[in-house]
Amino acid sequence: MTLLRVVDRDGHEHEVDANTGFTLMENLRDLDYGVGAICGGMCACATCHVYVDPAWLAKLPAAQSDETDLLRDLSTRRENSRLSCQLKFTPDLAGLKVEIAPDE
Ligand code: FES
Repeated sequence: MTLLRVVDRDGHEHEVDANTGFTLMENLRDLDYGVGAICGGMCACATCHVYVDPAWLAKLPAAQSDETDLLRDLSTRRENSRLSCQLKFTPDLAGLKVEIAPDE
């Protein structure tokens, strides 16, 4: 298990024992304060939207066009927005900090 730091929609930070090899979304959707992920990771709903701590952005793979297309339509989009279903939670991301974005 690997540390994942999650800030919920009320601004509270939680330390989560996360599974590497799973996507970030798969680690977040079972949390009471996690993401909805209603499309199940098909990059079709954007309900897995998170804000990545800026210190970690450069460690993540670049977003592909289907992800950037979905993010572009969100009123809550920020420079550090990502769709958590498109990110594998790998061991080198131990300590990653993300914030759950508001519902659209
Ligand atoms: S779970 Fe639907 S876009 Fe990520």
